[in-house]
Amino acid sequence: MDMDTLDLQSVRQLNDVDLNGKTVLIRVDFNVPMHDGRVTNASRIEASLPTIRQVLAANAAVILLSHRGRPTEGTKTDALSLAPIAPVLQTYLQRPVQFINDWRAGVTLQPGEVALLENCRFNRGEKANDPQLAQQLAALADVFVMDAFGVIHRQQASTYGIAQCAPVACAGPLLCLELASLTKALDHPQPPMLAIVGGAKVSTKLTLLTRLLDRVDQLIVGGGIANTFIAAQGYSIGKSLYEADLVDEARRLLERAKQSGKDFPLPTDVVVAEQFDAQARPMIKPVDQVTAQEMILDIGPQTAQRLSQYLHQAKTIVWNGPVGVFEWPAFANGTQVLAQAIADSDAFSLAGGGDTIAAIDQFGVREQISYISTGGGAFLTLLEGHIPPTVKVLYKCADVV
Ligand code: 3PG
Repeated sequence: MDMDTLDLQSVRQLNDVDLNGKTVLIRVDFNVPMHDGRVTNASRIEASLPTIRQVLAANAAVILLSHRGRPTEGTKTDALSLAPIAPVLQTYLQRPVQFINDWRAGVTLQPGEVALLENCRFNRGEKANDPQLAQQLAALADVFVMDAFGVIHRQQASTYGIAQCAPVACAGPLLCLELASLTKALDHPQPPMLAIVGGAKVSTKLTLLTRLLDRVDQLIVGGGIANTFIAAQGYSIGKSLYEADLVDEARRLLERAKQSGKDFPLPTDVVVAEQFDAQARPMIKPVDQVTAQEMILDIGPQTAQRLSQYLHQAKTIVWNGPVGVFEWPAFANGTQVLAQAIADSDAFSLAGGGDTIAAIDQFGVREQISYISTGGGAFLTLLEGHIPPTVKVLYKCADVV
């Protein structure tokens, strides 16, 4: 199935369901970074609040279910417990949040009350979508709301299995917003459409690059991915990160772009260093002058300016992945210039992925991006055009599954 066929109207949504007096189990994504037991970035928690508040306002009780990290099933550890999230939620919601370590003993709540269950990945059978586990979780509530976009690509007991056996299952507002933003950018883009795909490896994003090439007017690549394309043009890339076995594939993609009249602007200048080190001496060079001792760690300033021009003209922008080692000031310029150009543009801009969001925050442009996805792998899966089974199970007529 392709995103073309994803019609949000076919998905059962929270507004379609009567919640009055019911117990509602919401699958959220509280897989948030923590340090010393404290949440260091609460954006995923904040993204779930409108859904929780909507359910509470409908006179329902709320049970929250989430994973955190990738623990060994059957082994609880403090390091991956969700317990520290309960007080954080309590502050946001301004009401008590009961933390439930052992949900199998039963969860009894009155309308207006909130409980947070322990990390669902401590449960044996979660990953394998064990039907008994799914059934037991579903039995805790009258309604199941799938709102964890970050795990929409996972077919697990707390995502897919529970939706299959819940008395009523629907998509939450956050999930719907994520799907609507992706559909707007991919299926109904206002042209010209431009995508930036950065990151280390072509191999992990080959499907994405191929698919985007069919849709966009301009495709910009960065990072190790760009290095493979630079090598495909026949230039020396020295010690740069790249994938030798994908150079032919990169050449085919460039040829395909040319034949279909798409712009695939590759760097004409680059920032190189002799070591992969934050303190390494940066040197700006034309792309055809990289020596055997050097590695490319960013796009050059001329390239960044040229790519910004494309961004200023674009009406739809999809961004996944930085174009350089932006965490190190000497190699951050390319990603910063592009981030600022996206921020200044009046295009509909959609961004997602851990590194991309880190760059957005580092350069302070969060408020100027139209939509920032809460998903990492999930965002990529949907960008690639797959509608995951966990979305299909929420269709009003679930026999489509
Ligand atoms: C994420 O952080 O991308 C989501 O929470 C999914 O986590 P997972 O890759 O461990 O399933």
